[in-house]
Amino acid sequence: MHPLISNEEFELLRDLIYKTSGINLAQSKKELVKSRLSKRLAARSINSFEEYYRFVTKTDKTGEELVHLIDSISTNKTDFFREKKHFDFLNSKLLPDLIAKKEKRRNKKLRIWCAASSSGEEPYTLAMTVLGHINPKNGWDVKILATDISTKILQKAIRGVYKKETVNDISQGLLAAHFSRITKDNIVFYKAKDHLKELITYRRFNLMTPKFPFKNPFDFIFCRNVMIYFDPETQQRLVSKFYDCLPKEGYLFIGHSETLAKRVTGFKYVQPALYQK
Ligand SMILES: C[S@@+](CC[C@H](N)C(=O)[O-])C[C@H]1O[C@@H](n2cnc3c(N)ncnc32)[C@H](O)[C@@H]1O
Repeated sequence: MHPLISNEEFELLRDLIYKTSGINLAQSKKELVKSRLSKRLAARSINSFEEYYRFVTKTDKTGEELVHLIDSISTNKTDFFREKKHFDFLNSKLLPDLIAKKEKRRNKKLRIWCAASSSGEEPYTLAMTVLGHINPKNGWDVKILATDISTKILQKAIRGVYKKETVNDISQGLLAAHFSRITKDNIVFYKAKDHLKELITYRRFNLMTPKFPFKNPFDFIFCRNVMIYFDPETQQRLVSKFYDCLPKEGYLFIGHSETLAKRVTGFKYVQPALYQK
């Protein structure tokens, strides 16, 4: 039996989640919070949401439970080649132009940030796409930084093992080139090969961090399908921090249900869900 959650308890947790992660839960998410956090209460042998709130904010000095709380609340839905038009743009325009420009300047470094990378499908898709254009053996130094607030989902991304139905959107050629087929207990899985994994560095990073720690700019940033959980002020602050992390003409990719249109940013609209500094 799940303990009940009162309006006051929901408000306390809602505030804590907002302040910690920027995730702005509507009143209608009360039942969702209750069902997702019930497991955490059970894991800590806690009987009420108020006691759980006190445990997270006062008793637990390690901060570990707060990480579990955010892990339980965040929505991690993602896919390989999600919102394919972005990868079409990378293939037809962005990567050929960027590579030609960099080759001319004898600067064979590519730096990409996949912010809110979830279980890894997006950074692995980026890695496969980049490898369609360059060969790291030819002196190219490619680094994809993949970050997420959820430690649990990052562990899944690092493992890079996916069920058969998850890889349906990867072409047979790419799948054979970049994944190994493995079987466990008669179930087929696909595991990202080392050459793909080596391009990606996974890190826990909260997009609410007041000052981003990156010294060098990224050539482009993917931050898709996470800003929808933030309120407009939070989105605005985040977008201007992304702006500072990009060089002139650098690109920002956002989710197709998101838009920068009403916000004052220095970004220029390129096509739906794609902006350029
Ligand atoms: C719906 S998934 C989107 C994944 C991927 N970008 C895509 O479009 O397929 C949203 C991800 O954002 C992460 N997230 C939520 N709040 C965050 C924050 N404050 N900082 C970093 N990541 C966050 C969640 O853990 C989740 O993995």
